[in-house]
Amino acid sequence: SRMTSSNFWRMPVHNNGSNPQNNPHRPFWLLAELTYACPLQCPYCSNPEDFASSRTRELNTAQWIDVLEQGRKLGAVQLGLSGGEPCVRQDLEAIVSAAREMGYYTNLLTSTVGLNRARIDRLQQAGLDHIQVSLQGADQRISQRFAGSDFFEHKLAMAKHLRAAGIPMVLNFVVHRHNLHQIEQVLELGVELDAEAVELANCQYHGWAMQNIDALLPTRDELRQAEESVHRFRQQHKTAMPILFVVPDFYEGRPRPCVNGWGTTLMSISPDGNVLPCQGAADLPGYTPCNVKQFSLENIWNNSPLFERFRGLDWLPQPCRSCDEKEQDFGGCRCQAYSLTGDPAATDPACSKSPQHASVLRLIKRAAQHPSDQLIMRSTQRNIINLHE
Ligand code: FES
Repeated sequence: SRMTSSNFWRMPVHNNGSNPQNNPHRPFWLLAELTYACPLQCPYCSNPEDFASSRTRELNTAQWIDVLEQGRKLGAVQLGLSGGEPCVRQDLEAIVSAAREMGYYTNLLTSTVGLNRARIDRLQQAGLDHIQVSLQGADQRISQRFAGSDFFEHKLAMAKHLRAAGIPMVLNFVVHRHNLHQIEQVLELGVELDAEAVELANCQYHGWAMQNIDALLPTRDELRQAEESVHRFRQQHKTAMPILFVVPDFYEGRPRPCVNGWGTTLMSISPDGNVLPCQGAADLPGYTPCNVKQFSLENIWNNSPLFERFRGLDWLPQPCRSCDEKEQDFGGCRCQAYSLTGDPAATDPACSKSPQHASVLRLIKRAAQHPSDQLIMRSTQRNIINLHE
């Protein structure tokens, strides 16, 4: 459930912004979520659950370019252009070209829906540095089921054209219970499509994915088999592209150092201009995000309560506070802590030292013993599909 309350809301205090003595961090990585509009309906989407409401308030081209300029001045060098589906924005080429001129390394995160050959050529001319193509499955059937529509052949054709245009491409495959048997096929596709790397990323269980956890979470055994298939592939294809396999931290006993530590590296801008320390931060209760229409990016980065909230180590609860691993994982993921405990400031229960770790073990057991055969698709209407139909 999404709760926002303005109780704790206070405005950034230093209108001249910068206070680098207090905040030594620079936002190296800027994630621009250009739109939440998307023709796909992936049931593990990382967009907020009420994504539809921001459509009419999206930043326009000039506003995006201004934000990117401010980001560069703050030290951002890596730009992720994401969504929703960023190709829905007809000004994508203009944004890429402006970003490239400012000196960003530009990376487009897309399903390829909305791309065609001419558009790829225009993006290449605009100076796009890199592209990440998401795959929902390794064949038409699984792909269509989890994307909600049939775009599989289109994706393959676009991936081929991207490589022909010379744009380095990473394939991103979100792994869950119903596609993990396709890992080897996806890796072979990676070789065939001349991908620079393949990322096998397990679903992260909050937001949409959390609603669907009983259908999506693999069992320990299934995960072990998946790891074996990655291992087998590596043995057989020693010179093939790098493979990134991100295991769900539910099974690891230690949480991920999410967003590399809150307010240290990442600045994520939502389609309507809210500035967030993590894409999911708008769903956390307690603090209203600051918006670029009202404040400078520098002021928000240095002073906004939402960025200050979990920055550094002082806010950490026990047992994190006295844990010698706190500088490696910073207490884990705030969004996961919130979705599992209702408290965004709790130790991430993925950690076996968390007093609430049993909640994770219960979820693992429940999904294994009573897997759901229904999927709630990302949609404004309630769209539920049955996996066995
Ligand atoms: Fe938001 Fe981890 S996904 S902090």
